Parts: sequence; C-alpha cells; structure tokens
Amino acid sequence: MDLQMMLLDVIYFILRNSVRAVLRPRTKPVDGELVLITGAGGGLGRLFAQEFTKHGAEVVLWDINSSSNEQTAKLVGEMGGTAHTYTVDVTKREDVYCKAELVRKDLGRDVTILVNNAGVVAGERMLDCPDELIEKTMKVNCHALFWTVKAFLPQMKAQNHGHIVTIASVLGLFSTSCVEDYCASKFAAVGFHESLAHELLAEDVEGVKTTLVCPYIVDTGMFEGCKIREEVELVLPPLDPQYCVEQAMNAILIDQPLVCIPRLTYLPFLSRALLPWESNVVVYRFIGSDKCMYPFIDFKKQASNGCINVV
Ligand SMILES: *[C@@H]1O[C@H](CO)[C@@H](O)[C@H](O)[C@H]1NC(C)=O
Repeated sequence: MDLQMMLLDVIYFILRNSVRAVLRPRTKPVDGELVLITGAGGGLGRLFAQEFTKHGAEVVLWDINSSSNEQTAKLVGEMGGTAHTYTVDVTKREDVYCKAELVRKDLGRDVTILVNNAGVVAGERMLDCPDELIEKTMKVNCHALFWTVKAFLPQMKAQNHGHIVTIASVLGLFSTSCVEDYCASKFAAVGFHESLAHELLAEDVEGVKTTLVCPYIVDTGMFEGCKIREEVELVLPPLDPQYCVEQAMNAILIDQPLVCIPRLTYLPFLSRALLPWESNVVVYRFIGSDKCMYPFIDFKKQASNGCINVV
C-alpha cells in the first residue's frame, strides 16, 4: 500500500513538474517580506536587491564593502524601495550573529527570506594558490551558509514562514580544472542546502521553503576570460546577470527547490552521473571545458595580484 502510494506520488510529481516547465504556476507575493541578501554590493546580489524591491519587498543588504553596499542601497532608494545596509564579514561567525541581532533590534521584525549570495573565487592554479585564498573561498562560499542559516532559521521555523535561497553554481554539480577551491566550496554548498531542505521536510516545517540556484558562468566579471569552444559558446554563452537573476526570481517565487540556469546545464549534470568518467573527459576536451579556466587564470594574473572578487 505504502509502495503504491509512493509510486503514484513519484509519477504525480514528474507530471506536475513537466506541466510546470511549460505553464508557469502562479508566483507568490513577496511584498511585506524582509529579504536579507549577502554580497549585496555588486554582481548578482545588487540585482537581487533590485528585483525583490520591484516585487515590493524590503531589503537588508549585507556586504563586506560598505561603499559598494551603499551604492546598492541608493539604487533601491531610487526605485522607491527601502534598504538597510550592514557591513558584515560573513566569514566571521561572531560578526554574522552580532549583525543578525542588530538587524532584529533595528527593524523590530524578522528576516523572512535569506538569500545566501556572497561568493568568491581564488583564480589560481591549485599549487600556486596561497593557503589563505583557499580558506577564504571555503569560508565565504560554504561556512558562511551555516552561520547565516543558524542566525535566521530559528525565527522562520517558529513562524513556520520563510525561504532560504542558496546561490551555488553549476560548478557545485559538475566540475572543471583549475577551480578546485571554488568547486569544493560549491559542491559543499549544494550538499549543505539539500541536507537542510531534507531536514525541514523531515520535520514537516512546510512553511519554510528552500531554493537552490545553480547558474552557469555569469557575466559579472568573476570569471572574466573563461572560454570554451567557439561553436559551443554560441549555444552556451556567459549568462547575462539580469537574465540569471530573473530566472532565479521566477524559481524562488514559485517555491521551486532547484534551478539550473540555463536549462542546458542539466545535461552535463546528468552526463556526469550517467556516463563513464572517460566519456565525460572526451566531451570536455571536445567542448574545451577542460581548459576553459586557463585564460581566466591568466586574466586574473594580469588584472590583479591574486586579489578576491565578490560576486
Ligand atoms: C569597494 O567598492 C568600491 C566601489 O564599488 C570599489 O571601488 C572598491 O575597490 C571596493 N573595495 C574593496 C576593498 O574591494
């Protein structure tokens, strides 16, 4: 009996999600929600702040760089929205807990949507990469997820209302060379997010939703220089940041658990699981994705002294 029910449910969700891929379901309203975004000073974080503002939400902006964070707040203000800025180093858990408490005190209300967006990449070959940069990537892209979720999930659970969004990467689902720090941290982020999603469901906390966002290389400058075979790049160009954030917003607003952007990237994710390792290597060579980070690393070397980019 249980088995029959389970199989029926499995089929129901396959059908429902196929229909949803074509007919978009109704989106939930987020006006009146308090949305906290990490890494809000630039890249996708800034665009998320603007998108949530468009949808009538109030935003709390966290970034380690106060001047770029203020610029985001200014843009939100010009749109008629309300933004509250905090200078936070998400790699320091005391700082996260302390600023989370401050947000609660200042605003007198709880954060209901948490967008874990802050991310960095070292941009060095494994053996050239200073240890501090490797640690930094793990701390920003992975450890910080624990601290922010510990800071904001309790109130969401208490109210049975909230949404945890993790901006990971397709490099959390499959990998390439020369971004060991980034891949390790993003695979970790995916594992963290999915385990947390299972925990909430196992506890029947139905009101706290989760969305894992896995974008392909986004044209924010973070992976500037990265290059694959030209013919393939025509069908898989670097993502326009605005497009990426709009797709992610669509997923968040329909409580979709996972979204890969663009959809084409589900393909390498599947082939990694289904094909032999060597077959994937051959495909990587053909596409040029085995060495796609080489020009990126050269570019980073020229452009900076191995300094860190915040998305
Ligand atoms: C902070 O942001 C400003 C404005 O975007 C930028 O000019 C500056 O270099 C950033 N500072 C650091 C330390 O990254």
